Amino acid sequence: MKISFVFLTALFALSAFALQKPERHFGCPLGKNVCIYPIDDTNLQCETIFDFQVALHIPENQTIQTQFRHLMDIKLSLPSGDVLTPESLFGKEPHLRNWTLEAFEDQADQTPEGFKSYAFMYRNVVIDKKYGKGPVRVTVLARGVTTEVSYVLREPTKRRARNVVLFVGDGMALPMMAAARLVSRGMYHGKYNDKLNMEKFPYHALQNPAGVDSIITDSANSATSFNTGQKSSVNALGVYADSGDDVFAHPKQETIAEHIKRKFGMSVGVVTTAEIQDATPAAVWSHVRRRAEKAAITSQAINGCQDCVLAVQPDVIMGGGGKYFKPKDSIDGSDMYFNYSAKGYTVTHTRAEMVAAANDDSTKKLLTVSHHGNMEVWLDRNVYTDNMNDTSNSPTVDGPAPTDQPNLDEMVMSAIKILSKNEKGFYLMVEAASIDKSAHPLDVPRTLSDLIELDNTVGKVQTWAKENGDDTLILATADHGHGFDVFGTVDTKIWDDAVVASEEQPVSDVDNYCSAVTDNAGTVFNISTETTTGMPLRASNRARRTAIGTYSNAGYPDYMDSDGDGFPDTWDVRTTLAAGMNNFPDHTEDYKVSLSIKRPGVRTSRGYFSNPEDDPNGIFLSGNIGPAGSTGVHTMQDVGLFAYGPGAEKVGGNVDNTEVFHIMSSALGFGTDGEIDTDDHLFSDVIKCKRDDESCHCGEEGKGYVCACARNGPTVFVMPTTMLCTVKGGYVTPM
Ligand SMILES: *[C@@H]1O[C@H](CO)[C@@H](O)[C@H](O)[C@H]1NC(C)=O
Ligand SMILES: *[C@@H]1O[C@H](CO)[C@@H](O)[C@H](O)[C@H]1NC(C)=O
Ligand SMILES: *[C@@H]1O[C@H](CO)[C@@H](O)[C@H](O)[C@H]1NC(C)=O
Ligand SMILES: *[C@@H]1O[C@H](CO)[C@@H](O)[C@H](O)[C@H]1NC(C)=O
Ligand SMILES: *[C@@H]1O[C@H](CO)[C@@H](O)[C@H](O)[C@H]1NC(C)=O
Ligand SMILES: [Zn+2]
Repeated sequence: MKISFVFLTALFALSAFALQKPERHFGCPLGKNVCIYPIDDTNLQCETIFDFQVALHIPENQTIQTQFRHLMDIKLSLPSGDVLTPESLFGKEPHLRNWTLEAFEDQADQTPEGFKSYAFMYRNVVIDKKYGKGPVRVTVLARGVTTEVSYVLREPTKRRARNVVLFVGDGMALPMMAAARLVSRGMYHGKYNDKLNMEKFPYHALQNPAGVDSIITDSANSATSFNTGQKSSVNALGVYADSGDDVFAHPKQETIAEHIKRKFGMSVGVVTTAEIQDATPAAVWSHVRRRAEKAAITSQAINGCQDCVLAVQPDVIMGGGGKYFKPKDSIDGSDMYFNYSAKGYTVTHTRAEMVAAANDDSTKKLLTVSHHGNMEVWLDRNVYTDNMNDTSNSPTVDGPAPTDQPNLDEMVMSAIKILSKNEKGFYLMVEAASIDKSAHPLDVPRTLSDLIELDNTVGKVQTWAKENGDDTLILATADHGHGFDVFGTVDTKIWDDAVVASEEQPVSDVDNYCSAVTDNAGTVFNISTETTTGMPLRASNRARRTAIGTYSNAGYPDYMDSDGDGFPDTWDVRTTLAAGMNNFPDHTEDYKVSLSIKRPGVRTSRGYFSNPEDDPNGIFLSGNIGPAGSTGVHTMQDVGLFAYGPGAEKVGGNVDNTEVFHIMSSALGFGTDGEIDTDDHLFSDVIKCKRDDESCHCGEEGKGYVCACARNGPTVFVMPTTMLCTVKGGYVTPM
């Protein structure tokens, strides 16, 4: 029997029977019986720690000697020219991990084969910068077969930024930004009156969110890429997913927070509107293959993890997730609020307590948990505030309802107050989680208002940065999109009139309320009238759909922001956006704001059906995802990356999501002693050259500076570009 097996392509994962197939080694070199982590084509930032693992797979019914390290020849060829074994390069012996797995021979295989995996794990290794920058080739010869992967060692970079703030709009698709811009800023004769704050940043790029095991990522997967610079798999945090069962033992990748605590003594802050254990915040400090291990993630923040170099102990943590702190759901039955206090955290649960603690000079570390689960969304925190009045959401389980939840900007500015006390700088990760958490249940007003809340916060942080040394790199991006877009407007008055009219008409009126349709050939098709409540299914809704205007019939919607806070005065306007997702369960849609977050599907033993209580006067939209899906899902599109501050000029073009980490870690000077370098000679570094054969520099001219890019020829210098620049925080940036 041939021992190599072919790994399934990502495309295959979409086919009908892929659902039944057990997990396998995505990320292994195709057709090989050896898996190497870090995976092929990984960029390693200078002096970062990682776990190096080489795993051999053999068929279940074969055996090999227990002392078999010598059966594998592992060599690393380094940029310096050295060719070393892992033992000599890393200065340590491996330990053995072994497990069994099931995998398929090839894509047509219907029966999984059993394998044993023997993995040599070298924990917490680093490639010293003396081995240079550039390609590293790993060659493994095992049982007569050679397997190779390559890495790129990044070079040390001068530290340019004192602080880095990473804003993650979870699920923030580019069309959502356009919709938020329209609703927030308005439009006049086809021109937007203003842009979003993020959009005014000088550097933009497209960012690609896919992961190792799927064309579509989840938040854990892409937050891992942002925080480690390496690719990961759906549900994995700070690890490469191998096929082993122990979710805490997978090969780890050092996070930016771990690195800057370990090397530079910087502070770390994490702010989210989700549970603090949710994927995006957890990726700052956790290492676990399953994001659902929320009790362990709560502990990892202060206690570190199995085989970790240090516990990040973020200086500020804010969000929801009180559930996992209390004895019933905590990892060891402790009240974790006490454990956090014991580690020096001031623990608060309301906006008022949070603000007081941030203003108190004696506060060193701050934990603010203001909800049992995910915090309420902006619209429910600020408009439909009755939705906060539920004692079961108490962050301490037995306390009052969380009616005083802070807004995102309040959390972030309180966090910065504490973090900015550290002269060595800080890394702050801010997540607007409920862009995504509202997009899943197809709730457009809640999606867009949380996006506006994020953007307002970005604006406040940019203002703070400008007033405080202007040495903060600010990035704003998304971890993935949703299939959202706007296709017109809806006149809800026409809509409501159509609803009244349809109720007065007989049920047999196929135009309004049909149970059967006749096609051109005269064949009668009965439409299924099955719903969970027996409510007839409105298969046509034609009268309502006349309220939807497209092109010039759409005109402009009626949102107004008269107080200039960025949010429309009301979401309950007559002419709303005709907007939606490209994937959903069976549901009804009325294009109006709902009094509480939408719940499009109801669960039955046969999957999800349209919820008769959700948008009861909506048009019926037949689901296009599997019947087990209760909400819409993430989509594949590229997302935006927006940057301001020192190091921002590296943002451009179309980049992989791992570059978010490399942009941040370069600005922070990974591989250096962490001193901020403000020397004049840096000016030449910060000008972006348009072509590889250009060299660019700056010179003073009057008040401003002139940045010139010159093409290097053998004899002549041409100066194709000159532009005016300003000096900010010691660095020259184009105006
Ligand atoms: C292992 O099983 C395969 C089929 O499942 C068979 O072809 C092969 O001969 C077996 N090898 C040994 C060593 O038993
Ligand atoms: C792992 O190796 C040990 C020692 O060789 C052995 O006892 C154990 O059964 C192996 N476990 C698996 C899952 O193969
Ligand atoms: C919490 O603190 C208690 C009391 O010191 C200790 O026994 C327990 O191990 C701690 N648990 C965690 C997960 O930190
Ligand atoms: C919250 O709910 C309680 C019980 O239903 C009610 O008495 C109280 O008035 C509500 N408070 C607010 C602010 O809505
Ligand atoms: C459609 O429904 C009507 C009324 O319920 C019934 O009489 C008719 O036989 C059905 N037609 C088909 C093709 O099922
Ligand atoms: Zn999501």
